[in-house]
Amino acid sequence: MFVAKYGQGTPEEPFVSVGKPLMSLQNLDGLVPPEVDEVLIDEKLTLNMLNRLHRQKEQEAAAPGVPAVPLAEELPVAAKLYTEALEHAHGFMDDARQGRDVDYHEAQPIVDSFIQSVFRNESAAATLFKLKRFDEYSYTHCINVGVLAIILGKYLGLDKDVLRLLGLSGLFHDVGKARIPEDILNKPARLTAQETQIVKTHPVESYRIISKTAGPDPDILRGAIEHHERFDGTGYPRGLAGSGIGLFGRIISIVDVYDALTSKRCYKEGMPAAKALSLMYQWRDATFSPNSIEQFIKCIGVYPVGSFVRLSSGEYAIVTGSNDKNATRPTVKVLFDAGMRHTPPAVLDLSMGSQEITECLNPADYRVDLSRMLTA
Ligand SMILES: [Fe+2]
Repeated sequence: MFVAKYGQGTPEEPFVSVGKPLMSLQNLDGLVPPEVDEVLIDEKLTLNMLNRLHRQKEQEAAAPGVPAVPLAEELPVAAKLYTEALEHAHGFMDDARQGRDVDYHEAQPIVDSFIQSVFRNESAAATLFKLKRFDEYSYTHCINVGVLAIILGKYLGLDKDVLRLLGLSGLFHDVGKARIPEDILNKPARLTAQETQIVKTHPVESYRIISKTAGPDPDILRGAIEHHERFDGTGYPRGLAGSGIGLFGRIISIVDVYDALTSKRCYKEGMPAAKALSLMYQWRDATFSPNSIEQFIKCIGVYPVGSFVRLSSGEYAIVTGSNDKNATRPTVKVLFDAGMRHTPPAVLDLSMGSQEITECLNPADYRVDLSRMLTA
């Protein structure tokens, strides 16, 4: 509790101000004289102090590499949350499509739940991306970008209040696409110059839709309107460059590109995560701010949890845990032998032996059910 003052002062100044936190009753003597039997506690400051301590404990519990909750335990929780979020995304995209107002505050409980899940075990929410259905891209993309932004923001040390705004900005960054005709958005062929111009209006449309929320947060708005700006000034809608692009825009642009590359669409396969990351690494200087791709790769790993890989032994495995000291040698669960025959699942820490990953594969090519494999 936060001790404000006690009443044994002088007649001119009856209260003695303490203004210090009391962490344990045993420490009381150090704060007030032994003859004092009543002190005034400031409830608001006590609450602030407790919240801060609680936040600190959660952050310590979720230190990199040490998840507070095992993946198998958090995965069903995150999966349920993902389904709820998908329903919500359908709701706000349909509202925007039909010209109804969208209130991002309604999504706050979902974003808060994702933040809590990410602090318990960030691999759980991140893994769900591998399980998504391609025919719902417009909706899954909003959620994936919101959650990945939270994961990257947490890695960058942002506190939970900022992560909430960032998550909301990610969730609603593409809401303006609801105003773009679907036959243009899903066109399997190259867009005409006129169609490209129409697609490029979506960040401004997102800004307009979000700004109708009561008291819109400026950072949420900036994240949405700046998510297609590029570090070298070649992006849109304003062609901002370098530090002219805000933090939210820079974070969302990275996770937006990553999700677009790794997602399966009606006209293309999803790219394995490792390939998408290596491509983004090649674009690092022109597209993204300095060191940001390196930070993103460190954050989610070269082989993110849920990646389906082939080992040097020829066996097939799924990545189940990252290794902070060596990003190319995560923990894997071996599931199939070199002939793709089921083997009893065996967990292998690649940082310990001579085995290594030789290839990152697309699970769809092997008809592998990753969600079952991860929880088996
Ligand atoms: Fe976009």
